[in-house]
Amino acid sequence: MRILSGIQPSGRLHLGNYFGMMKPAIEFQDQGEAFLFIANYHAMTTVTDPTELRQNTMEVAIDFLACGLDPSRTAFFRQSDVPEVTELTWLLSVVTPMGLLERCHSYKDKTARGILPTHGLFSYPVLMSADILAYQSNVVPVGRDQKQHVEVTRDIAMKFNNQYGPIFTIPEPSIVENVAVVPGVDGRKMSKSYNNHIELFGNEKETRQRVMGIVTSSTPLDKPMDPATCNVFALYRLFVSNKESDEMADRYRAGGYGYAKAKHALFDVMWNYFEPFRKKRDELIKSPDQVETILQESASRARGEARRTLDAARRACGLD
Ligand code: ADP
Ligand code: TRP
Repeated sequence: MRILSGIQPSGRLHLGNYFGMMKPAIEFQDQGEAFLFIANYHAMTTVTDPTELRQNTMEVAIDFLACGLDPSRTAFFRQSDVPEVTELTWLLSVVTPMGLLERCHSYKDKTARGILPTHGLFSYPVLMSADILAYQSNVVPVGRDQKQHVEVTRDIAMKFNNQYGPIFTIPEPSIVENVAVVPGVDGRKMSKSYNNHIELFGNEKETRQRVMGIVTSSTPLDKPMDPATCNVFALYRLFVSNKESDEMADRYRAGGYGYAKAKHALFDVMWNYFEPFRKKRDELIKSPDQVETILQESASRARGEARRTLDAARRACGLD
């Protein structure tokens, strides 16, 4: 089984990215042949500064490797190191009905947020289809927001196969269901765009400040607190065993505990959880050549696969 996913390098990674995307993607490496790429072509629809794009791409690479991505098991590469996907995008574009793209939520959502309505932003799902189909992927783990794009990919692949013959594997989305939405410091979904996020690798002072600033209810100190509705508790339980989470819930319900103590406990478990990753990251930052080699070696593996698919698709269309 081949599993493929991608992440846009659109800024510093936060806890929502980690629990919603990175951790599940890293765990997929035990379940099949995994491909994971940094979607820098996609990020060009929003990141227009070249230095920023280059830096974000490298940071995402370093952060994934630091958090346990094993490049001997997962092909981990930059999207743009496999330019075959852009040619494949064209072959797919000519079978893609306009209506299919017009129905996509993400274009409407992004333009409503003020992102420039370019052709690239509109045809984004076709590039994403090429990413998925180039590697004949069976399973595509994505967050709920990306499910529609995998459905579009299936439609495009079926159209192409009907018109030109059976070239593409039809992929299945795998929605990362067991991960609830990670709340941000204000209780809304954690997101860079709400500026309510806690960075994975922020410095100690800033991270502590973010944690201490988490919005809580105004329950007086001596009264019982409700863990089910508390943002601090929702984050705390992501880091600890069920037993530890039950113990914290008991302290909440007993009263006399207080949110400040809960926040300190959250900071401590979080800081300790990321400690080994931080060490690994510090080493990787010092050896960018090693990171570059990993990305290049994976890309050449991925590229072989994409080339085979593209050649078959070209032949089927009469481009040979
Ligand atoms: P942001 O909202 O900060 O811009 P992205 O949309 O770039 O984050 O998200 C990248 C990945 O991380 C996606 O797969 C998304 O599903 C996941 N993700 C982002 N925020 C959260 C969250 N708060 N909870 C769970 N998963 C999240
Ligand atoms: N569009 C995805 C996102 O914004 C990133 C992505 C690009 C992707 N190509 C992909 C995800 C292919 C899965 C498969 O999160």
